[in-house]
Amino acid sequence: GWTKEAILYVNGLRKVLPDGLAHLTLLEYLRDIGLTGTKLGCGEGGCGACTVMVSRYDKKSKKCVHCAVNACLAPLYSLEGMHVITVEGVGNRKHGLHPIQESLVRSHGSQCGFCTPGFIMSMYSLLRSSQTPPTEEQIEESLAGNLCRCTGYRPIVDAFRVFAKTNDALYTNMSSMSLKEGEFVCPSTGKPCSCGMKNVSNADTCEKSVACGKTYEPVSYSEIDGSTYTEKELIFPPELLLR
Ligand code: FES
Ligand code: FES
Repeated sequence: GWTKEAILYVNGLRKVLPDGLAHLTLLEYLRDIGLTGTKLGCGEGGCGACTVMVSRYDKKSKKCVHCAVNACLAPLYSLEGMHVITVEGVGNRKHGLHPIQESLVRSHGSQCGFCTPGFIMSMYSLLRSSQTPPTEEQIEESLAGNLCRCTGYRPIVDAFRVFAKTNDALYTNMSSMSLKEGEFVCPSTGKPCSCGMKNVSNADTCEKSVACGKTYEPVSYSEIDGSTYTEKELIFPPELLLR
């Protein structure tokens, strides 16, 4: 008979799903294949430590839909034909932190760090699914399922507020500003800055602008992906558009 390979993509890489894994959650699968950035906290949907972003192509609207998902609750096979992005696919020290990560670090929004990947993924999912910058309320709402035992939340909310609509300067700058060699748009102030996050030892010289950090390339809007941040982000795997 006719069989179609069961596949999913994880951080841009194609994975064939073998038979016999029906007992696995997405979280167990991810950790089994070495992606341990996604954490097991409660295991029952209450803490958000296991949050990942799931993208699927919606044939009706011809758009990719991005959602934050609790990987501890999602049966692995329910992800067939979808793209899963974990914190490893967002950014890291070696290849550069994502502005969301950078901002969280600068605001001291990570202490023990156990909740951090989940917060990053909730925020990342919100930004990727937003056609326009979210409001501060939308940001807070999107974090409602993430618990943190350490920070008291204020530093986390402060870190992410810089991506809100009210921070107009950031968005105007992101799309229209031309930066000089070596300059970056500071997510905190929305102004060009040359604090040189390329060189981490310089980081402290920019203390005043709390979330000062890595560059945004001017946003290039992609029709299919439809997200605010497409430059340097993992794209939706073309293979999955055809299924
Ligand atoms: Fe707590 Fe998944 S581990 S929500
Ligand atoms: Fe420890 Fe959030 S930093 S739980």
